[in-house]
Amino acid sequence: MASAFGEPFQNLIARFAADQKLMTSVEDLSSDRFIARSLIPHIEKLSQLFNRTEKSQDSGLDPYWKNSSNRAHLRLAYFLYFMPSNLFRTASIWAELSRLGFKWPSGRTLKGIELGAGPASGACGIAAGEKYSPTGIPNAGHWALIEQDRATLELGARWANDYFSDVGMSDWGTRTFHRKISFNEPLLPQNAPKFNLWLMSFMLNEFSDPAPVLASRLMDAWERHLEEEGIIILVEPALKLQSRRLLELRKALLVERETRGAFDFQVLLPCLGHQSCGALAAEEDWCHEEVMWWRPPYFRVIDRLAGLDRKTLPFSYLVLARSNRPREEILPALDKSRAESRYRLVSPSHREGNDQEFFICGQDGKRRARFRGKYKQSAMLPANPDDDARLQRGDLLLNADVRGDMNASRIEKIDRVT
Ligand SMILES: C[S@@+](CC[C@H](N)C(=O)[O-])C[C@H]1O[C@@H](n2cnc3c(N)ncnc32)[C@H](O)[C@@H]1O
Repeated sequence: MASAFGEPFQNLIARFAADQKLMTSVEDLSSDRFIARSLIPHIEKLSQLFNRTEKSQDSGLDPYWKNSSNRAHLRLAYFLYFMPSNLFRTASIWAELSRLGFKWPSGRTLKGIELGAGPASGACGIAAGEKYSPTGIPNAGHWALIEQDRATLELGARWANDYFSDVGMSDWGTRTFHRKISFNEPLLPQNAPKFNLWLMSFMLNEFSDPAPVLASRLMDAWERHLEEEGIIILVEPALKLQSRRLLELRKALLVERETRGAFDFQVLLPCLGHQSCGALAAEEDWCHEEVMWWRPPYFRVIDRLAGLDRKTLPFSYLVLARSNRPREEILPALDKSRAESRYRLVSPSHREGNDQEFFICGQDGKRRARFRGKYKQSAMLPANPDDDARLQRGDLLLNADVRGDMNASRIEKIDRVT
């Protein structure tokens, strides 16, 4: 999947943007001049908005589609640069579910919903994830796209239809709902249908409501509008403030789960359980993932000219399932490993002599750990030709035999790594 966004993807998106009259011709995307003049100023503006750090959550972004002197170019910049990045992030999450053995319930039509859909980045991310890491979603289904900006919503629906066809999901359709969501009221009308895939990508950080309010509204909506065996995917920025807010939301969702007795809601990823968050325990800490991809060729030009770097894509995420089945049945790759022996590598890994050193997070919190030697690849996974490969951020360590305390642990043995 990481190499699926090269020249053919650039041709597809260039043709689409030209057909939509967002650019004058497909060649624009190969022109340094067009990129420098028509895209980069808007990408920089959006980057500044998205990278706002300690300001209040909602001050920078609210009606950003409307505030620009040149809305069409701002929208185009988002579409060409931020949409593919977010598409790939969601696809990576789907690919992780697939690697862990998740199977879409057989014969069940996809009923997806993306809130704050923008140009349908998340829905397209699921399509890409499913193409390159299939879980068995049939080529029949539909997405409800909900978005407050009409032009972006309509652009997203047209793009999704093109993209779905391109990745072989030609019978996935979209319905658009031009609506402003508020956490002061139910998120969906009472008579809205049930869905089985609920997606919010880079959306929650646009709301300043406290985590318990978000959790309560979300649980209300999921209890009413999410089918059993449905999946929920939340993707948020990797920045400390926004990532911590997602961790706070996870905590608040677990409180809601207890108080409502809604025990069919389970956290699947990234933490494989309901333990208290290892990152939230320290005030200055947070938790994020990073994925690598081969950027579309025009991304390299943008990155070079704008001094940006989209070689790796950081993000925070949370995946839940509505299911009464044990987690090990939903994610069979976890089977035969005790919950207490499951860890995720949550930092970069660096060499200390012959060791690799990094932080891992598990049932008992976060700890600094070292590892030396070889690991055994999960039997469920394709053979890894390079068993000595460095462990890296995001890896799951299963059946880990960990000795030592939270400040200095040694992993004696790992049976499975994903
Ligand atoms: C950063 S963009 C993310 C778009 C897309 N999900 C993605 O991952 O690229 C956030 C989107 O949420 C929309 N949004 C923000 N607040 C909203 C609200 N209250 N109701 C509906 N949409 C909203 C914005 O208009 C914007 O398109």
